[in-house]
Amino acid sequence: MNVLLLGSGGCEHAIAWKLTQSSLLSNLYVAPGNAGTDSIATNVDIDIMDFPSIGRFVRKHDINMLIVGPEAPLVEGIIDFFQDSDKFEGLVTIGPRKAGAMLEGSKDFAKAFMVRHDIPTADYATFTNNDIDAAKVFIDEITPPYVIKADGLAAGKGVIITSDRAEAKATLDDILVGNQFGDAGSQVVIEQFMEGIEVSYFVVTDGDAYRILPSAKDYKRAGDGDTGPNTGGMGAVSPVPFVDAEFHTKTLNQIIIPTIKGLKEDEIPFNGFIFIGLMKVGSDPYVIEYNTRLGDPETEVILPRVKSDLLHMFDALGSGMLSEYDLQIDERAATTVILTSGGYPGAYDKGITITGLDKTPDAKEGIVFHAGTKTSRGKVQTNGGRVIACTGLGANLEKALERSYKIADSIDFGKKQYRKDIGQDVIAKEE
Ligand code: AMP
Ligand code: GLY
Repeated sequence: MNVLLLGSGGCEHAIAWKLTQSSLLSNLYVAPGNAGTDSIATNVDIDIMDFPSIGRFVRKHDINMLIVGPEAPLVEGIIDFFQDSDKFEGLVTIGPRKAGAMLEGSKDFAKAFMVRHDIPTADYATFTNNDIDAAKVFIDEITPPYVIKADGLAAGKGVIITSDRAEAKATLDDILVGNQFGDAGSQVVIEQFMEGIEVSYFVVTDGDAYRILPSAKDYKRAGDGDTGPNTGGMGAVSPVPFVDAEFHTKTLNQIIIPTIKGLKEDEIPFNGFIFIGLMKVGSDPYVIEYNTRLGDPETEVILPRVKSDLLHMFDALGSGMLSEYDLQIDERAATTVILTSGGYPGAYDKGITITGLDKTPDAKEGIVFHAGTKTSRGKVQTNGGRVIACTGLGANLEKALERSYKIADSIDFGKKQYRKDIGQDVIAKEE
């Protein structure tokens, strides 16, 4: 099978790595990819938002399956583009159509969906720039902290949480009037603050059958102890010790099954991943948000724990046979520590040569996934804020973390930064 995978992050390197282990794979192309995917597949220099160019590549290279990593092309309708054209008959696409991707593309859409289908989530109200005054009155009426979210895609930066009423109102002005997030901020969702601990669930579904991948916890803040600005994610662990049988059953019955049933009732076809960000409040799960793709860096701990063939799973998904697929999970723990460029998530330099990549860990102990890297004149250089994901595997989280940090110490580039406390909170809770 010839496969084209879109994306260039650590998530896509992990997907590519897993696909190359499949006996079903003939050729793997990654657009645009990074230095990591370059070493195991063929990178293709195509803009992932340029659907006609992707289409030409698909035809020229006899691509049988298109896998979409990031959210932006999904929300723009890349799946509709391929599914609705008779030029691409037989092409298997992995990812939801635009209608399903709206669960990620609009917070208001996702909230209304959850209310409609009785899925537990924080209470909320939505405002457009025509009702900014009403939004400010709403702020006066509710108790802090105030959670304000730009409606559309904002690369993880569209959520502002503050206990300061004046700052909350200024945030509304910035988003609704100042267009801080462009079109993504033409509406805001204001919601009740939930006190709890976060965990992410990953479900793959064809709209009927579903499989639940290992749960994971990511670390979004830049600094140790969950301090500093939000980032795309500084590390992740899987499994998550506080996800016990009771919590899992509640998540399945109150959230996962109603979500899939809700999509069906709303006549929204779905063929891909639903990544559910959950808050465990007391012992109950509440949805923080939906994404309609895999997570980064969560994928770098989830896929190393999947023992069964990923391409086989995608093939089953594409042919409506997911119910027959036997998903097998490795009992071992996986952790990842992200090495970032100095300054991230603010301004940072690119083009710095990375050393130590030749000392790859034993595959049983760890895997180095590339994120913001590129190959330049035979050398691997930094090319983004998040540079390398150091994934460790072990009998428990402590052992996996030891291996992640061993890799983190052995790879270097100028102004390398990373969090030193990945996983410590959940390990402390376990004791
Ligand atoms: P989101 O992009 O909606 O996942 O929000 C980003 C982050 O903001 C989440 O990972 C949470 O840490 C936090 N957050 C979002 N909504 C809430 C809420 N209602 N209560 C508490 N924290 C929240
Ligand atoms: N790590 C969070 C995300 O991928 O959205």
